[in-house]
Amino acid sequence: MKNFSLSILAVSAVFTGSATVEAVDYQTEIRPILSKRCFQCHSGPRAKGKLKMDDKAKFAERIGDHDNAVFKPGNPTGSLAIIKASLPQSDSDAMPPPAARSAPDPMTRTELALVRKWVEEGAKLEPGDTPDTPPTTEPASETTTETMAPDKTKIQSWSNASGKALQAFFVALSNDSTQVKLKKEDGTEFVYDMSKLSAESQALAKKLAGK
Ligand code: HEC
Repeated sequence: MKNFSLSILAVSAVFTGSATVEAVDYQTEIRPILSKRCFQCHSGPRAKGKLKMDDKAKFAERIGDHDNAVFKPGNPTGSLAIIKASLPQSDSDAMPPPAARSAPDPMTRTELALVRKWVEEGAKLEPGDTPDTPPTTEPASETTTETMAPDKTKIQSWSNASGKALQAFFVALSNDSTQVKLKKEDGTEFVYDMSKLSAESQALAKKLAGK
């Protein structure tokens, strides 16, 4: 790998100074996605489906464990908004609606993964809010499969040997298992030296590579 040292330089910049992995933040990470993909029809006085995402109080009414909720804290697979946003554009129930003229593009995989993670973490609109549904109410089977087999399509938490943390998708492990390729939320891929990762992250990379 001839541009190896370059990759490492780039990586030291993406590992943040904090040793703890930050939770997804609604205001800075999720709202911009909803704003780009959904607000066109789900904001203001004429919001479709009575789903108003721009008004915090109104939006909060659609988050919870009740029948009217479109985001269910701790339960992304049971959240109508995520189900609809995940449907292929060939499905007429998809959001944004495929038939609508001038509708924005659907969420990218990366955006969807981040929104899923936000819901898993409790779909909080303010940092430090307590989710009204503790994650323990998740169906047991789902929790088990998740902990047994780490999911490649999900964003993972990585840490390096000096304890710095990063959120990234797993892409690939080199054949000799000395380098791992990761992808940041914004889609940038980079290569990282396995020996510079924490033991935990090395194990995670191997598990995800099926080794
Ligand atoms: C081009 C307009 C448009 C865009 C953009 C759009 N929607 Fe919708 N949405 C609608 C319409 C119209 C309805 C009501 C009819 C329906 O349910 O299909 C609706 C309904 C919904 C509902 C059902 C609400 C309920 O109470 O049943 C959900 C959930 C939803 N949208 C989520 C989303 C999400 C998430 C996005 C962004 C990824 C999005 N929508 C983007 C037009 C849009």
